Amino acid sequence: MIIKKFKNCGLVPRFLFAFCLSNIKFLMRIKINMEKLRVHSGHKLFGSLKVCSSKNAILPILAGCVLCNGEITLLNIPNFSDINKMCEILKSLGCIVNYFNGVLHINSKNVDRFLVENSLSKDIRASIVFLGALLGRMKRCVIGQPGGCLIGNRPIDLHIQGLKALGANIYEEHGYLYCNGENMRPCTFKFEKQSVGATQNLILASVLLKGKTTLKNCAKEPEVVDLVNFLKSMGAKVSGAGTGTITIYGVDELHSTIYLPIGDRIVAGTYLTACAITGGNVEICNINPNHLSSVLKKLSFCGCQLCIKNDKIKLLANQRCKSLKSITTGVFPKFPTDMQSIFLSLMAISKGKCVITEQLFDGRFKQVPDLIKMGAKIDTFCNMAVVTGVENLSGADVSATDLRAGAGLVLAGLKADGYTTIDNVQYIDRGYDHIENDLSILGAEIERIT
Ligand code: EPZ
Repeated sequence: MIIKKFKNCGLVPRFLFAFCLSNIKFLMRIKINMEKLRVHSGHKLFGSLKVCSSKNAILPILAGCVLCNGEITLLNIPNFSDINKMCEILKSLGCIVNYFNGVLHINSKNVDRFLVENSLSKDIRASIVFLGALLGRMKRCVIGQPGGCLIGNRPIDLHIQGLKALGANIYEEHGYLYCNGENMRPCTFKFEKQSVGATQNLILASVLLKGKTTLKNCAKEPEVVDLVNFLKSMGAKVSGAGTGTITIYGVDELHSTIYLPIGDRIVAGTYLTACAITGGNVEICNINPNHLSSVLKKLSFCGCQLCIKNDKIKLLANQRCKSLKSITTGVFPKFPTDMQSIFLSLMAISKGKCVITEQLFDGRFKQVPDLIKMGAKIDTFCNMAVVTGVENLSGADVSATDLRAGAGLVLAGLKADGYTTIDNVQYIDRGYDHIENDLSILGAEIERIT
C-alpha cells in the first residue's frame, strides 16, 4: 500500500523512500553500535542469580544440529548475538529455527545446502565448526573464513590438518574453503596442540563416518564434553570426552533430542569476580563447580569465602582482596584465558602485585590502556602484565575491544569513583545476555544508554 502510494509520487520522494528502506538495516546497526553501558560504583553485590547455558557449549552444538535428520530442542538458551548468528547460518542451510523464551527448536530434516556465505561466517569464530558438521552430513562444504573477537592470531591449521587426515580434500580460493569429504574414512589422528574448536570439528566430522576414529591430544574443556553428550543424546557412539583420547564409532544416523547444555562457567566466573571486586555476598546457580575449580581456588587465595553445594556457588567478600602472586592461563583444567581479562580488573584493585601470563592468545591485554585511564597501574611486556593494585579506580569513558575485555571494564567500573561509560557494547552482547540486567539483579547500578 505504502509502496503503491510512493510509486505515484515524484522522483525525489521515491528516491528518498528507497534510500531510507535500503539503509534501515544499516541505521539499526549503527543504533546498536551506539549503545553504551553506564556503571556507577559504590554498591556491594548481594543476591542470587541463575546462569544461562554456556555460549561456548551451545555454538558447536548448533553446528552439530545439521548432523541430525530430525528435530532438536535446546533449553535455557540465552539471547546472545553469537548464538543468533549461528542460527542464521543454520537457516541458510535449510533448517527451520524457532526461539521463544529460552527454548530453541531446530528442525534439520531439510538441510540441503553446504555453502556458508562469507557474510555469515566472518563475524563469528565458531562458524568454522560447520566445516566438520557439513562434511559429516553433506560430504561437502564451502565456507567463508571465520571471524570472532580480535584477541590475537587465531589460525585454523589444526582443524584443516585433522580433516585432511580423515581424507577430506580441502583447498582455499577467493577467501572460501572448498572441502570435499567423499573419500573420508576413519583414522587415528593426534593434534599437535590442544584446541577446543579443532577437537569439536573432528568429532562432528566423524560421528557419521562408518568405523572407528581415534583422536589424540584432544582438548578436555567442559564444552567439548558437552558437545559429545549432546551428540550421544542423538545416538552417537563416542567415548573418552574430557580425556586426551576420544574414540568415535560412526553410526548411520542421529535422531531427535531435547538437550540442556551446561551452565556458562565464564558468565558464572564473571559475576563471582564482580562480587569479589565490590564486596558483598552472592550465590550463583546452575554451574558445575568442577568447571570453575582453578578460578574458585584463585578467588579463595584472594580472601573470598566460598561455599559450594551441588550446582550453587556462594561467595562472601568482606574485605579488600589480596593480590595473587601470579596467574598463568592454560588449557582446562588450568586457569581459563577467558577469565584472565576478568581477573585483570580484580587484580587492578587488590592489595599487592600480580604477574599475569597469557599463554593462549597474543591480543588479550587490549583493555589495559583503558584500565590505566581509570587509574590502574599495569605494565605489559609481550604476553605478561604486571598489575600493582590500587585502592580505587576513577570512572572514565572507555571502550570494549572484545567480549571478555569489555566485561572486565564493566567490572572495573563497579569499583571506580563516579560513572564509567563503556561503548562498543555489541562485543559484550556476544557472550552476556544483557549484562546490565544480571548485575542490576545483584544490586549494581548499571544501565544501557544510547
Ligand atoms: C575457544 O576458542 C573459545 N571459543 C574461546 O572463547 C576460548 O578462549 C578458547 O576456546 C580457549 O579456551 C569458543 O568456544 C567459540 P582453541 P577456540 O582452538 O576453539 C591455537 C570467548 O571469549 N590454535 O582452543 O578458537 C590458538 O591460537 C572465546 O568466549 C592453533 O594454533 O580456541 C590458541 O593459542 C574467545 N591452530 C590455542 O590453540 C588452530 O587451528 C587454543 O585455541 C586452532 C587453535
